[in-house]
Amino acid sequence: MSQVRKIKSVWKSVPTMEGAGVQLKRAFGYHQVPKLDPFLMMDDFHSSDPSEYLAGFPWHPHRGIETITYVLEGVVEHEDSMGNKGVITSGDVQWMTAGSGILHQEMPKIGPERRIWGYQLWANLPASHKMMEPRYRDLKAGQIPEVKLPSGATVRIVSGTVEGVSGPVKDIIIDPVYLDISIPPGTAFVYPVKPGHTVFTYILDGKGYFDPNQKSGKIGSENLVLYDPEGDQVEIVTEDSPLRFLLISGKPLGEPVAWAGPIVMNSQEELEVAFEEYRARTFVKRRAK
Ligand code: CO
Repeated sequence: MSQVRKIKSVWKSVPTMEGAGVQLKRAFGYHQVPKLDPFLMMDDFHSSDPSEYLAGFPWHPHRGIETITYVLEGVVEHEDSMGNKGVITSGDVQWMTAGSGILHQEMPKIGPERRIWGYQLWANLPASHKMMEPRYRDLKAGQIPEVKLPSGATVRIVSGTVEGVSGPVKDIIIDPVYLDISIPPGTAFVYPVKPGHTVFTYILDGKGYFDPNQKSGKIGSENLVLYDPEGDQVEIVTEDSPLRFLLISGKPLGEPVAWAGPIVMNSQEELEVAFEEYRARTFVKRRAK
């Protein structure tokens, strides 16, 4: 007998300033730890005013985490200490495992749409993998499969499986699901989730019900819905408007979190080592050859 998950809480993302002066909305972050374990943070970038985003995120380090950048519209130029350089543009995903350490910059540019719309999620790495070799997966829009369901729903699959189709991001310790789901009015979307895994949805556009008994009422864009850990499926229903949302899940790590800026480790000592190495310029363990 399958059990539909109940909603644990719903909240709206909060305007925040980050990087060199980028105005964004934070769906969750530092103060929510460990509520969304294994996830640490998610930012929502949505602006048609270049002065709100052009300052970007100049050179900065990361260690101990993965950053997952999904660009729906616009252009983000990136460059890093591994020698990678390129652009993330409409429909592309960059799944970056910082591991032992990288230095990078992420700079939004004015694209043909003249606006930016995207999401950056931070996923934690377990103690056993915090110092792993950095790894990049740059996925162009065309490499991300899109499945159309009989209900009329379309699902872009970054990670996870829908109707037997799997997304390109595999072999990640937290066993993540990352789906971009669009459902038409008057339909239902049911998705199996792993018991005990953290599951949340973030609404991009439209409105819908995210629980089967519709207790929370209709929930619209820039809201995050966090589910109870019990249950093995989620059920989302629309009435008179279409709905687009991200569905994200992962296996909780249950480890201590020591977090300072762009570096997330398990202990204060490890943070001190990281910042000492950064000062001594020995932070990056793997460089471009
Ligand atoms: Co970064």
